[in-house]
Amino acid sequence: MTTDHAAIRHSLATRLVHAGLAIAVIIQLSTSLVMHAGRAGDPFFKVHSFSGLTAMVFVTLFWIVAVVRTSGTDPGMLLPWFSQARRRALLQDIKTTLSALGKGRLPPFKEASPLAAMVHGLGLLLMTAMASSGTLYFFLSDTRLGFVEWVIEAHKLLASLVWVYLIAHSFMALLHHFVEEISLSRMWSVTSNRRTPPGRK
Ligand code: HEM
Ligand code: HEM
Repeated sequence: MTTDHAAIRHSLATRLVHAGLAIAVIIQLSTSLVMHAGRAGDPFFKVHSFSGLTAMVFVTLFWIVAVVRTSGTDPGMLLPWFSQARRRALLQDIKTTLSALGKGRLPPFKEASPLAAMVHGLGLLLMTAMASSGTLYFFLSDTRLGFVEWVIEAHKLLASLVWVYLIAHSFMALLHHFVEEISLSRMWSVTSNRRTPPGRK
């Protein structure tokens, strides 16, 4: 598990796939508010479809980068469910977080928080489910396969969770930026050597 302060900073590859995926998902949510999927040639649905296929590419790249990168969050922390030691660390982190919140304080920021990493992993799984169900629909909607209708129903059901994830995750990122001075540029800078303003982490 990577815990070293310098090593944990996100690599350029991680920052690029994160930006690509986040922008694609924001376009998906915005177009979903105005599109008419059943109306032939609807421009908003076209944008939804093609940025959805782009999201599929970015989410696949994100998983590949998470596995092959040599710095940043360990992939096992994104999916802690299969290791007893990781589940124990997660439980401990949840207890520390609840205890801090119970005392009316923000939990202390950790470079490698098991709880934050687990939530990020669930977010990635959610975007994978959304992008793959949409992609499956894109390629199979003209066929008579009955399960395609179920797939798009699941897509619509999971859509509310994407809103919840985006709002909660952005709120936490902004809170860390403004309250704890953990700069947003740790994830949003696209230069190869990430530089943060003096005084920020
Ligand atoms: C729905 C779109 C988004 C998805 C799916 C997403 C996903 C993720 C994931 C999986 C990570 C963990 C990366 C890793 O540890 O390797 C992460 C980290 C981060 N995200 Fe997002 N993100 C999204 C949108 C945003 C937005 C809009 C912001 C800013 C307002 C943001 C700010 C950050 C920051 C600052 C981190 C780094 C946290 C840290 O260093 O611990 N993300 N995001
Ligand atoms: C990460 C990727 C994606 C996200 C976050 C996303 C998000 C959404 C959202 C929020 C809705 C609205 C649900 C509702 O109002 O009930 C929706 C509906 C839909 N999306 Fe996606 N989508 C993604 C990818 C795709 C792709 C690749 C396609 C392929 C064509 C697609 C096709 C559709 C269709 C057909 C609907 C149903 C519209 C309807 O019948 O009302 N989506 N999506």
